[in-house]
Amino acid sequence: MRRRTAGAIVTAGAVTGALLLTGCGGSASGSEGGGPELSVSAAYMPQPVSDSMAAGFLTITNKGGAQDELTSVTSAAAGSVTVHETTGGAMREVDRLAVPAHGRLVFRTGGDHLMFDMLKRKPEQGQTVLVELHFATSGDIKVEMPVKSATYNPATGH
Ligand code: CU
Repeated sequence: MRRRTAGAIVTAGAVTGALLLTGCGGSASGSEGGGPELSVSAAYMPQPVSDSMAAGFLTITNKGGAQDELTSVTSAAAGSVTVHETTGGAMREVDRLAVPAHGRLVFRTGGDHLMFDMLKRKPEQGQTVLVELHFATSGDIKVEMPVKSATYNPATGH
């Protein structure tokens, strides 16, 4: 009996708290709390075999409470950069990829990747390729993508 009563009180308190939080977020201009909070890590480009085409990988982390979407990628080093996903062994170009709230969008070998076409010149190991990521909500993020060996494995760092 006592337990049931206590439980009801706790529930009522939680509901009140949630309502207060909602009211608070609504009055803010979206500069804090509600929006996506993106950061980029583990960016690299394996030195390509081809003179004109290369792949790129990175991880986008979202610490915010709202999802965002990667809508396009640009780089002065390439005539075009497209976003590809790999499903069932076949890759296809996609318009956008979601970066879930409190989650990550991971580009990795055999999975989602960036595709650089019409390279101005062949990237060599030790160089850096500057890439600009564009999002539906967040501002642009510039990434210096180091060119690694053709067989670079981010898990081992070699
Ligand atoms: Cu591809």
